[in-house]
Amino acid sequence: MSNFVVVGAQWGDEGKGKIIDVLTRDADYVVRYQGGNNAGHTVVIGEETFILHLIPSGIFHRGKKCVIGNGVVVDPAILLEEIDHLRARNITVEGRLFVSDQAHVIFPYHKAMDKIKESRMGKGKIGTTGRGIGPCYVDKMGRCGIRFADIFDERLFEKKLKENLAEKNELFTKVYDYPPFSFDEVFKKYRGYASSLRQYSCNCSVLLNQAMSEGASILFEGAQGTMLDIDFGTYPFVTSSNSTAGGATIGCGIGPTKIDQVIGVVKAYTTRVGEGPFPTELAASDMEFLREKGREFGATTGRPRRCGWFDAVVVRYAAMVNGMNFVALTKLDVLDEMKKIQICVGYTIRGRRVDVIPSDIELLWEAQPVYEEMDGWLQDTSNVNSFDMLPGKCKEYLGRIEELVGVKISMISVGSERTQIFMVD
Ligand code: GDP
Ligand code: IMO
Ligand code: MG
Repeated sequence: MSNFVVVGAQWGDEGKGKIIDVLTRDADYVVRYQGGNNAGHTVVIGEETFILHLIPSGIFHRGKKCVIGNGVVVDPAILLEEIDHLRARNITVEGRLFVSDQAHVIFPYHKAMDKIKESRMGKGKIGTTGRGIGPCYVDKMGRCGIRFADIFDERLFEKKLKENLAEKNELFTKVYDYPPFSFDEVFKKYRGYASSLRQYSCNCSVLLNQAMSEGASILFEGAQGTMLDIDFGTYPFVTSSNSTAGGATIGCGIGPTKIDQVIGVVKAYTTRVGEGPFPTELAASDMEFLREKGREFGATTGRPRRCGWFDAVVVRYAAMVNGMNFVALTKLDVLDEMKKIQICVGYTIRGRRVDVIPSDIELLWEAQPVYEEMDGWLQDTSNVNSFDMLPGKCKEYLGRIEELVGVKISMISVGSERTQIFMVD
């Protein structure tokens, strides 16, 4: 029995939802360990498309258990909506969905703060999803956050919410010229959520460690991607959690010794939603083809994704910070019609060749990609189901990626559907 962490190697939306859905066959538990409903993970099963924001992408396998870990920030209204949405499509979660009682809860004031901060930053904005993720993590670290265990306890919740609103309403009204939040309204609404969600509550660490001691295998589902990690990403144009593999241990209370493998999900090119440096970004007219063929529109906000060539500097760095054992390569089919394909093998910054992402964001803004050009394969790969069947030029492209990144590609995805995937070897 093995425990796998699945992480995004770029700026998110690499196709983690699809890979998790496929790998769930071999797991007993699927666990989200960070982020919140800023994530949008797509699973396509036949004619049906599901987009999950909070519930792990293993939920489509009946009998598998899904856990929202302590490291996730949870908007209870969205979680309840997601449960209802699944139920309407005949997928029930009772008895197999668990939510850590240590997970922090997103409140309306977090969402308001997210939007106010963004609008005040003007041109320098981060381009957040506006879901209140950052402000909720700020409260967590500031030790005034409210957790599920707190909203289940009426008196404790009353005290904590009053304290929070006393301070936050001053800020909203006096600094931001924004209307205050009513204690009664928020309290009543969240006590309602508490009573609906209590049945799913668990101690995540105890649940998973017990399951592992009984031989269960666990799949840890990363959200976002390495370049959006609060420490290792393109700070400050990042999300507010550790989306890299290390986040899995603190995000659900398991020790690092319990992780056997890390799989990095890598898109065959690069995309990014939101603001921030993106060295291989194509000019607007050139990215149109990738955006249309790859359907690169945000699964959460619907925003068009910025598109660009494969950046080996980014993925090599992701391989290092995540301790990646294997790559699951996605969206290879999107490149089928390209005559020429560029791979970024390094950057030039202020006249110097650089092979590692600089920490100074000003330098990263100036990074000019150094490209190697390869011939495209100009053949449809969407029906390919083994490595041997891939066109020769396509194998060359994959080989070059492996060489540059230093990690073996073990799975290749050639379409959004569940079945459009094959193992290498
Ligand atoms: P996630 O956030 O990493 O789970 O990725 P998203 O779901 O936000 O975005 C990935 C998109 O690509 C979704 O629309 C998937 O259905 C789609 N997708 C996943 N793998 C493939 C693939 O191999 N080929 C194509 N064409 N689409 C894919
Ligand atoms: P999945 O799990 C792509 C981006 C936002 C913004 C930045 C900060 O589907 O890959 P936040 O709302 O988190 O404070 O926004 O992070 N972002 C994502 N981009 N995929 C995601 O999730 C993302 N989650 C957040 O666009 O640039
Ligand atoms: Mg996504």
